[in-house]
Amino acid sequence: MKTILITGISRGIGLALAERFLKNGDFVIGTSTSGNAPTKHDRLLTVQLDLTNSDSIAACTQVIIDSGKKIDILINNAGIWSGIDENPTIDLSLLRKVLEVNLFGTVDFTERIIPIMNRGGHIVNISSRMGSLEYCEKGGINWPDYKISKCALNMVTRILAGRLAGTIAVSSVHPGWVKTDMGGDDADIEPEEAAEDIFSLANSQVETGQFWFKGEKFPW
Ligand SMILES: NC(=O)c1ccc[n+]([C@@H]2O[C@H](COP(=O)([O-])OP(=O)(O)OC[C@H]3O[C@@H](n4cnc5c(N)ncnc54)[C@H](OP(=O)(O)O)[C@@H]3O)[C@@H](O)[C@H]2O)c1
Repeated sequence: MKTILITGISRGIGLALAERFLKNGDFVIGTSTSGNAPTKHDRLLTVQLDLTNSDSIAACTQVIIDSGKKIDILINNAGIWSGIDENPTIDLSLLRKVLEVNLFGTVDFTERIIPIMNRGGHIVNISSRMGSLEYCEKGGINWPDYKISKCALNMVTRILAGRLAGTIAVSSVHPGWVKTDMGGDDADIEPEEAAEDIFSLANSQVETGQFWFKGEKFPW
């Protein structure tokens, strides 16, 4: 039985991921900002985590350490979207708000969890094609804060992959356009379909430091 740590299991892709790993027989530690989750299981430990708050990040890490579990797979799923469709100038307050969750909080949390990860483990950063320089070459000027946050997260993947080479694999993944609070009702796929791809990636012996979409490498 592996131990899987997933941020943001209150809804959306994170919830579908938690349910997929539970179905597989794994032990899941999931986080939400409230400390509650819609799903209950004797192999699920739900912990409060607000990635904008360093005290919350430290407290959440301590609860995980106190549980005595070593982490096999960390999935950095929690993230926010500014919700502004068109934003021709880069709004600094929005950029700070989005980076606080999608980059700074995620990096802080990850660095605290790495020491309690098992050798052979896998860190999976839920990124987005919006963070791809190549994809966004033709991607318009909207959502700069979100694009910058995911582009930076992709660089975190590269840097950690280099530092942890031979011990822990690190991947970025684009989940697709998914019907969640973030993706909206017009999106292409259900959270369960995205979760299936991420589940498969997380359990694979992948080449570390790569960006994935549906099991194929995606351009940076
Ligand atoms: N949906 C898409 O089409 C799509 C496409 C590309 C990439 N992604 C990425 O996939 C991931 C999951 O997205 P989703 O569509 O499932 O989003 P979602 O339905 O909006 O869920 C976001 C999750 O992040 C958590 N979260 C938000 N702010 C947080 C904070 N300050 N601290 C800790 N957790 C926080 C939420 O927890 P609470 O409920 O407790 O607030 C929730 O569990 C994100 O990283 C997103 O950028 C999504």
